[in-house]
Amino acid sequence: MRIGYRSAGMFGLTLSAASVAVALLVSGVARAAPDPDTSPRIIGGTDAEPGQYPFMASLQSLHRGDSDRDRHRCGATLISPSWVLTAAHCVDGMLPPQLAVLVGHTLGTTPRRRTSNIKAIHVHPAYDAEDLINDVALIQLKRPVNGVETAEPMLGRDSAWLRLGRAFTVIGWGVTEFPGDARPTVLQTVQTPFVPFKTCREAYPGLQAGSVICAGTEGIDSCQGDSGGPLLVKRKTGWTVLGTVSWGEGCALPDLPGVYARLSQGYVRDFIQTTWTRD
Ligand code: ARG
Repeated sequence: MRIGYRSAGMFGLTLSAASVAVALLVSGVARAAPDPDTSPRIIGGTDAEPGQYPFMASLQSLHRGDSDRDRHRCGATLISPSWVLTAAHCVDGMLPPQLAVLVGHTLGTTPRRRTSNIKAIHVHPAYDAEDLINDVALIQLKRPVNGVETAEPMLGRDSAWLRLGRAFTVIGWGVTEFPGDARPTVLQTVQTPFVPFKTCREAYPGLQAGSVICAGTEGIDSCQGDSGGPLLVKRKTGWTVLGTVSWGEGCALPDLPGVYARLSQGYVRDFIQTTWTRD
């Protein structure tokens, strides 16, 4: 099952949305079969609307590619004007001048070279590259990004959200097909269903209890290039980040959910609290 066709008509402002609208007009009814404009995104998602997730950032590798899309490395989230949350495996071993943080809905195709806007990279001290434990990092920007809505990391109890039947929002510029390497320029969004830890451990026996959140189903998932991006819920106070995209076996395959680093887990929460409040 795929979701997301539902709101396709609302994307009147984007190019692809215009073609979706035209396609719907021509066919007269919402079609069930995928067409080039509604085929799988993130995996199974749709274009985000401009301004829908203002806190979403692209972590760019400055040494590669000739466009923002080519330089896109990972997702990241603005959690305050000067701090950006991402995955440890996205930045481990890298130096601030090699990377830049780009905030925006569309990744441009202009060859413009950018310079780094990163002051410091803080990888979780107990990040384990072998089994991706504590797969979170914080990036401190040289200059604050003011006037942009931020997303709040969930550092308190998240258990109310971790129930069968819940779904989270996951967004990113990662590949939209698995297997495949089709990459979008417009941010993709999808609702990904929660998968209980017990079920998730059947897929991945080595999983450490409490340290991750699993989500996804056949045809719906994050994928390569989405890492570091947020797993979100919308609360009265605004968007809240429960986890960061970390890994999975393949993408969107049956019974192999996506795995997200859980922010409220003790070591991760402590790391975010102590690092982020520094200036
Ligand atoms: N490790 C990937 C990245 O660096 C993210 C993979 C997520 N996989 C998944 N099935 N949800 O972008």
